[in-house]
This record gives sequence, structure tokens and C-alpha cells, in this order.
Amino acid sequence: MRKLIKNGTIVTAADTFQAEILVEDGKISAIGTNLPSAGAEVIDAKGCLVFPGGVDPHTHLDMPFGGTVTKDDFETGTIAAAFGGTTTVIDFCLTEKGHPLKKAIQTWHAKSNEKAVIDYGFHLMVSEINDDVLNELPQVINEEGITSFKVFMAYKNVFQADDDTLFRTLLSAKELGALVMVHAENGDVIDYLTKKALEEGKTEPIYHALTRPPELEGEATGRAAKLTGLADSQLYVVHVSCADAVEKIAEARSKGLNVWGETCPQYLVLDISDLEKPNFEGAKYVWSPPLREKWNQDVLWNALKSGQLQTIGSDQCSFDFKGQKDLGKDDFSKIPNGGPMIEDRVSILFSEGVKKGRITLNQFVDIISTRSAKLFGLFPKKGTIAVGSDADIVIFDPTIERVISAETHHMAVDYNAFEGMKVTGEPVSVLSRGEFVVRDKQFVGKPGNGKYLKREKYNTYTKLNQNETMSI
Ligand code: URP
Ligand code: ZN
Ligand code: ZN
Ligand code: ZN
Repeated sequence: MRKLIKNGTIVTAADTFQAEILVEDGKISAIGTNLPSAGAEVIDAKGCLVFPGGVDPHTHLDMPFGGTVTKDDFETGTIAAAFGGTTTVIDFCLTEKGHPLKKAIQTWHAKSNEKAVIDYGFHLMVSEINDDVLNELPQVINEEGITSFKVFMAYKNVFQADDDTLFRTLLSAKELGALVMVHAENGDVIDYLTKKALEEGKTEPIYHALTRPPELEGEATGRAAKLTGLADSQLYVVHVSCADAVEKIAEARSKGLNVWGETCPQYLVLDISDLEKPNFEGAKYVWSPPLREKWNQDVLWNALKSGQLQTIGSDQCSFDFKGQKDLGKDDFSKIPNGGPMIEDRVSILFSEGVKKGRITLNQFVDIISTRSAKLFGLFPKKGTIAVGSDADIVIFDPTIERVISAETHHMAVDYNAFEGMKVTGEPVSVLSRGEFVVRDKQFVGKPGNGKYLKREKYNTYTKLNQNETMSI
């Protein structure tokens, strides 16, 4: 059915203006004033901002990890994402050494197919490079539309790949037109520090952070950037948590390298002291990289503002406090790493970023949506309000004040890492390809309505705009 969204303020990464949006067949068919309302359902967005649905470039839904499986799957996770103003997620498809990549991709299709309520794509983990993998990668890109590969430089004996694998993945990505993503921490040194801490009887959650110091994130980030330069390839550093890593990204970019960086809401508003909460509550804040000393937050905000970091991912990887996090009750290294962030990503960036004057409204849209759509081959289908784009639209009341809580969130997990935090602004209604998923804060979507997205290659658009600063 046609829909006409009236009286709202449209915000894109470039502009803020008053106009109506006409939606037909799941796409935006016109933007303007006095658009024809005949046969259209009229939606009044008075007092609201109307911006493109968020693109969350970093989720782990239904993922086996740390001896358990993440609590939120493609159904609960995408419902929570939609409530939070996100209409696209790109999830990490895990692979197993010695097994065909195709098999892993099939597994991820099976997890998501009938469950997602919003559109989704996959990144593919690369943990080894051999002839079989090299033979399969072109199909992964051309047939599956998976145009980003993830290499873990940490989690020794689990996901960690060596530098040879990273370098050869960068070379392949360059040739095939993919973007290489890295989890940048020095896994070997972390492994040593972890064993040493445990030998010394240091078992509490805080030691998770103390055995993964920022130097090891900075070192790995710098190493990955150098290898990217040597391979003349392209790199996206996920979940940047600290000044050490920001410096390395900024240095690489100043040399003209195609190096991009993502941070996450948790690093912008939480800090290392959260891991010291009593009664094992610190386990709620165990993820990697760990939370840092508070002063790093200013560095991250400034990097978002100046464009040295370009995106914000949730790194949604949720585990219940009771029954999952407590696997590490006597040993911090056994606490499943990850937190529930998918729902609050957009709100936190708006409230803490725009409302507090740290970024502009247009930068906000760029960071939560547009830039990820561009980097991951979804733009302009996703990531903007433009004629011809998918009608993935958030109607957002910028004045509502509320308190984040597990009691009201929609994730399946039993705690919220931002519990008690006051935020201003809330998505009221959210449309995915022209259909309401959330309407007046009620879920009206359907599992299975989300479509799998085949993405374009890492493209000329991004390369040409390597040095553009964000529109202000
Ligand atoms: O602790 C985290 N971040 N868990 C998810 C996996 C990863 O490293 O991104
Ligand atoms: Zn497929
Ligand atoms: Zn990671
Ligand atoms: Zn992650």
C-alpha cells in the first residue's frame, strides 16, 4: 500500500529539511511538498525526525561462542534492532577450518531465513587461506554477495588467524573487491597474560580487562594497517575501544591508506570501572576489546566527529547473566565475551552525541546508517532517504526522555549493560521496505519478512571519497 509520511523533518547524512515522503512498492517514490495523497495511508510525523533506518554493520546473532550460544537469535535480535531504529544488520558468518565456506554460509542462512524481521547480510570469517578457500572466495562474492571478510587477530586457539592469513586475505580482497575487517588485538600476548593472571589466582572479571591492555589493541591495529598498505588493500577495524587504536587508524589514513574504523556505544559511555562491580556483576561488561579508562571516551567521540572513525556497530553478542556469564564465575577467561547492544545503539548515539553537542544531526545519520551502507555495498538502496531507495525509515521523537532498562528492552537477554541510563529520543515507528515493523512503539512485523541482502563489491564510491570529511 502507498504511504505518505507528512509533517516530519527529514534528516540524511547531508541535509535536514521539511518534506513529505511518498512510499510505493517498498521504495521511496517521491520526496517533496503537496505530494498526492490519493489512495495513500497518511502518516503524521509532526514533531519527529525522519531518517534512514540504521545499518548495524556488526552483530553476532545465534552464534556459538565461549561454550554457549548467544541468547538473541535472528528473531529476537532483529526485533530489538527494529525497536532501536535499525533496519539492516550485517552478521558474522563463522567458518570452520577444513570445511567448505559454502557450508558455513548455508548454516547462517538456516539460522536467519524464517526469523529475521528486517533485512540482513553476512560478513564471512576467514581463518585460513589455502587453495580450497581461494577457489571459493570468488563464489562467495559473486553468488552470495558477501563482500567483506573478517579476520580475528585474537582469541588464540579459537578464532585467531596468523599474519600470513591476514596478509593473504588482504591480497585476495584487493583482487576480488572485498573489504577486510579485523578484530585487532594481539591474541598471543593476551594468551600469555591471561595464563599468568590465572596462575597468580587472579580470577575476577576485572582481569579480563587487565590482561588485554590498550597497547595490544594499538599494536594489532597498527600491524593490520601496515599489512594493508603493503597489500595496497582495504581494511575496516571493528570495535575500536581506545586512543592507541585510533592513533594507528589516523596515522594510516593520513598516509592515504584505505583504513576505516568502527566504534561501539559501549566504549562511548561505559568504562573499565564497570568490570569491578561486586557480586560478579562485572561479568556483564566482559567483552573484547575490554572497556577502557574513561578518558578514552573523549578520544573516540572526537574521532567520530573528525571522521577518523566512520561508523558505529553494536557488536551485539548477548549472553544471560544467569546461566551464561556465570560459566566464568571462578575464571574470568571462561566468561562468554559479549554484550547486548543492538537495541540501544541509535538512541545512545543520538542522546549522548547529538543532544550533548558532540556530533551534528547529519553526522549522526552518517555514523548510524549511511557510512556503513556505503562501505558494505548497500548504498543507495539502504542508508539514505532518496527517491528509489528502499523505504527503510525511522520516525523518531527527539524529545522523549526515558530510562534504558532490561525491564522494557526487547532483547532476549536478562540484563541491559546501560541499565538506568537516561536518554533523550526514541524511535516511534520503523518501516522496513515500506511496511511497519514497529508502529507507535508496538511490534507489528513478522519473522521471515526480513530479506537476505546480496551486497555490492567494495566500490569506487568509497575509494573516491576516502578523504571526505563528514558533512556538517
Ligand atoms: O566480546 C565480543 N566482542 N564478542 C563478540 C565477538 C567479537 O570479538 O566481536
Ligand atoms: Zn545463499
Ligand atoms: Zn571482535
Ligand atoms: Zn563482534
